[in-house]
Amino acid sequence: MALDSMSSDGLVVDNTLQAICYKRGSLKLLDQRKLPLETGFLDIQDSTDGWNAIRDMVVRGAPAIAIAAALSLAVEVANLKDFNGTSGDAASFLEMKLEYLVSSRPTAVNLSDAATKLKEIISKAASTATEPGSVFRAYIEASEIMLDDDVASNKAIGSHGASFLQQQQKQKISKRFSVLTHCNTGSLATAGYGTALGVIRALHAEGVLERAYCTETRPFNQGSRLTAFELVHDKIPATLIADSAAAALMKEGRVSAVIVGADRVAANVIAGDTANKIGTYSLALCAMYHHIPFYVAAPLTSVDLSLSSGQEIIIEERSAKELLHSRGGLGEQVAASGISVWNPAFDVTPANLIAGIITEKGVITKNDIKDAFDIKDFIEKAAGKSTF
Ligand code: MRU
Repeated sequence: MALDSMSSDGLVVDNTLQAICYKRGSLKLLDQRKLPLETGFLDIQDSTDGWNAIRDMVVRGAPAIAIAAALSLAVEVANLKDFNGTSGDAASFLEMKLEYLVSSRPTAVNLSDAATKLKEIISKAASTATEPGSVFRAYIEASEIMLDDDVASNKAIGSHGASFLQQQQKQKISKRFSVLTHCNTGSLATAGYGTALGVIRALHAEGVLERAYCTETRPFNQGSRLTAFELVHDKIPATLIADSAAAALMKEGRVSAVIVGADRVAANVIAGDTANKIGTYSLALCAMYHHIPFYVAAPLTSVDLSLSSGQEIIIEERSAKELLHSRGGLGEQVAASGISVWNPAFDVTPANLIAGIITEKGVITKNDIKDAFDIKDFIEKAAGKSTF
């Protein structure tokens, strides 16, 4: 989003919440740790500010992390007063900064995927550039394109997801959906609109959403603080539940589909194993038991073609403070001093619990014969056609 088009409080653009406010040379990130009570933006001046903002959860959500990281470096180089070196030195400088940014959080693949693509652009620019400024310009332009592309991709995920679900529901008496989601996958976790929350937005826009249910998402409460905030803002009929109420909700027959986001999807041998916010795996198990379809909504940039299975995904473990204190570690103490803590930020849901992966190029369903996702084949075929 361009800074020029921000509302007076900087949070709403075209009636949509925005967490990343950018114009060339300036980046502001909504401090999501303070939501829903305060809406303040932090100035990000360089990649060090970007790294800290990601690590400290000022900005979070796989796509948003990647974009915020790329733009923090874009702002740094846009404001460089002078750079003593060749175009090759400029390329090395950018590559080193990208490596540093990738080290901020390990689980989401979007950040390392963005860094790999940006490094290719840098190296191509450096091979023809006669001065460092051209390499920096190529980098800045490429990271700005990532910001625009993410919104288009999310809208396509929303529309594919909504059509697919309605197609699945054709034979059923009720044509309306009650969707349970976990964590935050909306405008605040992306450049705008959202992935799983984008599908919920699209169902609502098409008049077929009965209700969205969002979990609190302990311990950081992305569900109660962020998803609930977005749902209320968009006037989408929604109910907040404790994480531990999900099984009971499903048992009561109040959920027609579970839709979550993804931080990394394995695509090689056991394709479809998906890392997402801690608690996602339990939801998938509960959904399977209650015969409720469980979907992952994610851009293809969340797919890691190098992984044979979800077992290879590095799961970030976060500070004990997030459990010992309320508000993800920022509030008062809520647990006994001296207790030991295990705080994985993500878990891996095995592919066999997932009914489909909703992407910007369409929905990946299982191959009927192998009963498995053929994600590589889907990506290769999708490369030939554009849906947005
Ligand atoms: O720790 P977070 O808040 O970065 O975790 C976010 C999630 O797990 C989201 O579900 C995922 O990144 C998808 S965001 C579109």
